Amino acid sequence: MKAKSTPTHVHLETFGCQMNEYDSELVRSLMKQDGFVFTDERERADVILMNTCAIRENAHNKVYKHLSELKKLKRQRPLVVGVLGCMAQNLKEELTDFQPLVDVLAGPDAYRQLPMLIRNAMRSQEEGVDQKELAVDLSEYETYHDIVPDRNDGVNAWIAVMRGCDNFCSFCVVPYTRGRERSRDPEGIVQEAHRIAEQGFKQITLLGQNVNSYRFDDWDFARLITAVADVPGIERVRFTSPHPKDFPLSLLEAVVSHPNICKQIHLPLQSGSDRILGLMNRTYTNKEYRVLVDRIRTLRSDIVLSTDIICGFCGESDAEFAETYRLVEETRFHSAFIFKYSERKNTIAARKFSDDVSEPVKTERVTRLFDLQRGISYSRNREYLKTTVPVLVEGDAKRSAAQGMGKSDGNITVIWDKRVISSQPGDMVSLAIYDASSTTLYAERPLAN
Ligand code: SAH
Ligand code: SF4
Ligand code: F3S
Repeated sequence: MKAKSTPTHVHLETFGCQMNEYDSELVRSLMKQDGFVFTDERERADVILMNTCAIRENAHNKVYKHLSELKKLKRQRPLVVGVLGCMAQNLKEELTDFQPLVDVLAGPDAYRQLPMLIRNAMRSQEEGVDQKELAVDLSEYETYHDIVPDRNDGVNAWIAVMRGCDNFCSFCVVPYTRGRERSRDPEGIVQEAHRIAEQGFKQITLLGQNVNSYRFDDWDFARLITAVADVPGIERVRFTSPHPKDFPLSLLEAVVSHPNICKQIHLPLQSGSDRILGLMNRTYTNKEYRVLVDRIRTLRSDIVLSTDIICGFCGESDAEFAETYRLVEETRFHSAFIFKYSERKNTIAARKFSDDVSEPVKTERVTRLFDLQRGISYSRNREYLKTTVPVLVEGDAKRSAAQGMGKSDGNITVIWDKRVISSQPGDMVSLAIYDASSTTLYAERPLAN
């Protein structure tokens, strides 16, 4: 055993969606309570954990690549390797290819056991026993409601208000990796929002795989987001990821009537073809989706809408893809995430349909749609030229520390020259926009060099 005075150093890497970012904050909190110390340096760590994503093939490949890199490290010194998150859950069998490497597998509902699993694995390693620690049972109740996450610094704090998904879209692995839907009690969420405000965070993002199907006794999502928006000191409230089926008027009205609920809605479309939407089990039609968009824009014409689209789903014909293309052309989203269909094991689509659109056709459709959307995003962003936009300052731009970066209310990235505009992270500033690309707004003219 390690001497008690030497703490165990843990390095945690996170892949995947915001829910995984949040879960990593929970994991850090749970493990710090148990005496573990976190380090940013892989080389210093006694334990390396990866919080993984299983949504598409390339998410898997990223994790496999990282695991391969660890093989060498593990040959050099004692090291416990743990795989957490959605891949751990879904790939219990396959990950055994990495048998000698992976010591701990823990799914999204098993994090309370993690300190124990890791200690067991360290003991086995010291004793030269080859034993894996597995905890991959899904729970119908686990919401981690009593765990205060060890939050990343910044202006935004996440709160997971529900976990799991019962929608079973036929392409999607999430209902299998994250289990059944369950919502967290509203009083606890609102209390947490107060604490977050006191700690100085300016923005709260409510999270759930299917966030707007939140339900707890007689609380629905509209009531919950209103209660969070009413917490003093919270300048912005966002939510992700919603499903188009759960947008009653009460929720739309909550969004448009609260100045601090951002005027931005992510509305995953997936396809514009009714036949494909049916096969995907999305429960709405092209027409119903358009009606929802119109209803939203009638309430608030300047709302920023974004979407997710899958190209090349099983059996998607050229004509069916053309319907998606037309809907995107006519709806003019501010932005869109466009994906090639990627077959996931055990999903309904993998069991019932054939992944028969060829790779080049998938690529060609993604490229065409991407080009269309880039042009639309460009002209949407140019609509902000010569206007003044309220921006929540986040910090330095990724590309250069000479530039500041923040987000508009609609979640569009805004960049400026720090010699011209000085600000601190967390400031809310009004900035004049002088230029725009398809992804970024530029505030104020930079000084000549
Ligand atoms: N719960 C969210 C989606 C989470 S996954 C929702 O329902 O909106 C984010 C996006 O990944 C999905 O909207 C979908 O567009 C994409 N996606 C999910 N499974 C996929 C798959 N098997 N292949 C390609 N894209 C997929
Ligand atoms: Fe997946 Fe559909 Fe659930 Fe979103 S709503 S997580 S796409 S099954
Ligand atoms: Fe990935 Fe799991 Fe999130 S599959 S997208 S990490 S819910």
